[in-house]
Amino acid sequence: MHVQPIDLPEMTTQVRGGKYVVRGGVTLRGAIDISGAKNHALAAMCAALLTDEDLILENVPDISDVDSLGALLVSLGAEVERLPNRAVRLNCRQVNIFEAPTDLISENRASFQVMGPLVARHGYAASAPPGGDVIGQRPIDVHLSGFEAMGARVIREGERFVATAANGLHGARVFMDYPSVSGTQNVMMAAVLARGHVTIVNAATEPEVQGLIRLLNAMGARISGSGSQILEIDGVENLHGTTSRIMPDRIETGTFAIAAVMTGGDVELRDVPTGVMDALLTKLRSAGAQIDESDGMLRVRREGPIRAVSFQALPYPGLATDLHAPMAALLTQANGVSIIHERVFDNRMLYVSELRKMGAEIVSTGSSAIVSGPTPLHGTRVRALDVRAGAAVLLAAMVAQGTTIIDDIFHLDRGYERLTEKLTALGVEVERN
Ligand code: EPZ
Repeated sequence: MHVQPIDLPEMTTQVRGGKYVVRGGVTLRGAIDISGAKNHALAAMCAALLTDEDLILENVPDISDVDSLGALLVSLGAEVERLPNRAVRLNCRQVNIFEAPTDLISENRASFQVMGPLVARHGYAASAPPGGDVIGQRPIDVHLSGFEAMGARVIREGERFVATAANGLHGARVFMDYPSVSGTQNVMMAAVLARGHVTIVNAATEPEVQGLIRLLNAMGARISGSGSQILEIDGVENLHGTTSRIMPDRIETGTFAIAAVMTGGDVELRDVPTGVMDALLTKLRSAGAQIDESDGMLRVRREGPIRAVSFQALPYPGLATDLHAPMAALLTQANGVSIIHERVFDNRMLYVSELRKMGAEIVSTGSSAIVSGPTPLHGTRVRALDVRAGAAVLLAAMVAQGTTIIDDIFHLDRGYERLTEKLTALGVEVERN
């Protein structure tokens, strides 16, 4: 069996830069497979810290955020190997460093989820505040107050946070000020090894959180209430290894579905997540799309004009904030005025400036945007400002007149697997250099 270990040096910092040259005026046609979900895979990789045994994750997307988290785990003493068919083997038996290196923690936000497992298993964890997309304040108070409620002592030492629990963690009733996705995952991963019972109130219910609960229970944890905002956790002595499949990526699915509607195409998306995309599919149908759903497959097409729709980006099951920017790109081509309210992050409107460079008519104030359409877009030079803002300008480039150059596409590499290949398979004229 060919095993490819993740070597630290190459995988530490993401390769910055890179650009796409996209010829506009395309109609997407064809079929692609959706990859595993970034935001499930990253949390699942951190769960490996909770056991000495092998954790095998299948359907792990080959994206740079997975590599940088893998490198972080290796820096703590873990073994992380890519296996054939997008599987990854993780083993944390040798972990003996409990502080996340600052250069790696700044690469992606999910890395901060090593804190919960480390303080629960080893009674000590330290890390600088995590990096990740610049889309708002992004505090970590919910994570830290969750650890404190279970008996950890959390102090700030210079740039880093240090959590200690020499006698382990204990049962508690943890109220989360905000149903934070990674906050719920981090606190939950600490709670599974606590002595006694932990109740998490106002927990996040995202599918990626539910996926992590399935994994932890498969490792021997005792969590109930998945999908609700109240999680009940009976702490156990220890967890064991398992093999688990990463769910398909609902944000990648949404991005390509929006692209199909935007270009008036006809696209088949295979291996999509079922039953977790109601908010988006409802809005796309209101905008004029025809969508057929069947066993893990979505066929998305549009013939008539795009109708304006308004939406709010909300915690699950509301419309995902990660699809806010791609939806805004679509609505530049809709007949009429669409109103967007961002209710999750306080600074997720940066994409507007890049779309406006292409001719979009968008007025944004604070966390809201008014999009007027249909407006012909034209090719120019723009930047991918983060993963999803990058997706928005990519979609706009597909319908723009002429050629668009998109800089800093390393952001897209962080969240979309084999993107160039998939775009080409759907008929997009795109060159990467
Ligand atoms: C996760 O980020 C995802 N990232 C994000 O996807 C996604 O946008 C977000 O959830 C919301 O769905 C990963 O899973 C790695 P949050 P996370 O904590 O966990 C406030 C992408 O493009 N908050 O739920 O960091 C915070 O200010 C990325 O794939 C607190 O107040 O999001 C924010 O307004 C981008 N205190 C809100 O919660 C806290 O301690 C949502 O943040 C933590 C968060």
